[in-house]
Amino acid sequence: LLGALGVFVASFLLGSIPWGVIISRVFFHTDIREHGSGNIGTTNALRTMGKVGGGAVFVLDFGKGIVSGLIAAAAAAAFGGGMSLSGHVIGYDDFVTVAFLGCTWGHIFSPWLGFKGGKGIAVAVGCLFVTFGWQGACLELLIFAVLVIATRYVSLGSVAAAVACPFFAAYYFLFATFAPLAWLCTTVAALTVVWAHRENIDRLRHGCERRIGDKKKA
Ligand code: G3P
Repeated sequence: LLGALGVFVASFLLGSIPWGVIISRVFFHTDIREHGSGNIGTTNALRTMGKVGGGAVFVLDFGKGIVSGLIAAAAAAAFGGGMSLSGHVIGYDDFVTVAFLGCTWGHIFSPWLGFKGGKGIAVAVGCLFVTFGWQGACLELLIFAVLVIATRYVSLGSVAAAVACPFFAAYYFLFATFAPLAWLCTTVAALTVVWAHRENIDRLRHGCERRIGDKKKA
């Protein structure tokens, strides 16, 4: 249990590094939060800083997810097998999903930004490559890509992929293996990502969400 708590704290701290703000300030002498949607993530980095800045923010945010997942996998090898409070044996699935939750929360509730932050998509994709493996992560990306290409709403693809996440997690962690804690961590992380998109959802419902390539509203 202590190993899993350590993984949560480490991944929260890693997730909390606000790369969007750092890159915009250091390399573009501006603050991403004052432009476009005000979000610190890849989509707004693309709007504010173009492909190079947007690409850098994506790689670094995605990297936070991958690294926290790898730390969790190493911790599972070192500390796995302990008992949770419910008497459930803590295994690989639990560690990597605790990291998913920690890293996503760290990014969305970053202490360095007054417990505000991003919307967690790039981070979550990084984590999903470790938690679901590449097949599950690619299916999630497919849902995202189809919707974004069809509608040009990045947020719609993001929310749909996040809503699908608990169902993928049910397949992996309730049917394939039985790891209810892993399902719970994944579901809470995914619901937090949906919650982080509440303003986007509101704009989508009112037909005034920004589309990619739509320079006027950026
Ligand atoms: O992942 C963030 C994306 O879904 C929406 O970003 O900047 O349009 O709010 P943004």
